[in-house]
Amino acid sequence: MATINSNFLKLKAGYLFPEIARRVKAYTESAPDKAARIIRCGIGDVTEPLPSAVRDAMHVAVDEQGERSTFKGYGPEQGYEFLRQAIVDNQFSNLGISADEVFISDGSKCDTGNILDIFGKGNTIAITDPVYPVYVDTNVMAGNTGDADDKGAYAGLLYMPCTAENNFVADVPTQKADLIYLCFPNNPTGAVATREQLTAWVKYAKENNAIILFDAAYEAFIQDPEIPHSIYEIEGAKDCAIEFRSFSKNGGFTGVRCAYTIIPKGLTGKAEDGSDISIHQLWSRRHSTKFNGASYPVQKGAAAVFSEEGKKQVSELISHYMGNAKLFREACLSLGLEVYGGENAPYVWVGCPAGVSSWEMFDKMLHEAQVVVTPGSGFGSAGEGYFRISAFNSRENVEEVCNRLKALIA
Ligand code: MLT
Repeated sequence: MATINSNFLKLKAGYLFPEIARRVKAYTESAPDKAARIIRCGIGDVTEPLPSAVRDAMHVAVDEQGERSTFKGYGPEQGYEFLRQAIVDNQFSNLGISADEVFISDGSKCDTGNILDIFGKGNTIAITDPVYPVYVDTNVMAGNTGDADDKGAYAGLLYMPCTAENNFVADVPTQKADLIYLCFPNNPTGAVATREQLTAWVKYAKENNAIILFDAAYEAFIQDPEIPHSIYEIEGAKDCAIEFRSFSKNGGFTGVRCAYTIIPKGLTGKAEDGSDISIHQLWSRRHSTKFNGASYPVQKGAAAVFSEEGKKQVSELISHYMGNAKLFREACLSLGLEVYGGENAPYVWVGCPAGVSSWEMFDKMLHEAQVVVTPGSGFGSAGEGYFRISAFNSRENVEEVCNRLKALIA
């Protein structure tokens, strides 16, 4: 009899976004006349078409695949040099990162989950609450936790509460952690960390021989010039941090799939015998064993994000989504709700009206306004009492959602 990985049995209900989709489906089945009215501001999925610079580059690459002389089979597992170099030139040029420290993949969700393959058992894992659920669930699957309590908190994880009191930026813990997940701009709260706050994290990581897993998937949405885009802007971070980035939210690649992970060559972890082992080498071994590279047309499209035309088009996309976030912020503020985020991130984090829980608010918005949001408690118990609105939508839909919110709550 084949046995299973029983860690999976510790997982709570379904993954958050499929669970939301299930509830929306159940509602539309019970009220089919309302189905066409539904506007989805739940999952952070882009809505605007791929930039033409990206599409043009992908068309050319597809045609190359149709000619014997330009056809390409398996590419380099780590990604084509042209894309890795474009990433470094455009995003890390003064930060001491080289193209061979960039690993191209098909998504940051996969990368942040898969990275656990190369870390051992018994690490203390520090995770913010609320948090992008992938970090928690993949640690559960990997056997790095005990069971969940009735609030959904897993034994063995070091939770770092992010609340209005700390502006949704976790303080460095008093206990020792080995792996620390940080996400800035933050999903779900939209909070950003200042240079001073990130400096404190790098100092903590170095003092504790810890590694920071820094998810910067939303860096392109930062508007404040003082806010760092990369952890490597902080001195010493190359000795203690891995950074995850993605083309999903800036280039509109959620359906196309392309992301990258930066692993500095000097970063090390400890083997059981106490010797220092290169994290870059381990990840390279893992990547080349379990992954055959993102597709050539996709990598060509991703590189076009850095062309002159591509940069202009991406910046228009970002302005569009940030304009949406501003409208959501203003609508919620005008209703007297507590509002966070949405200024350097495509997510607006809103306090529920007094006495209404996150899931109650989700149901109210769905059933009475036909608007899908994400309940804050789905991101962890500290998210209770909040809901998240995603600014990824058309302007028309966003204006309509603002009107419906006002009619619902005013
Ligand atoms: C979200 O809604 O939080 C995002 O879609 C998460 C993701 O990018 O996987």
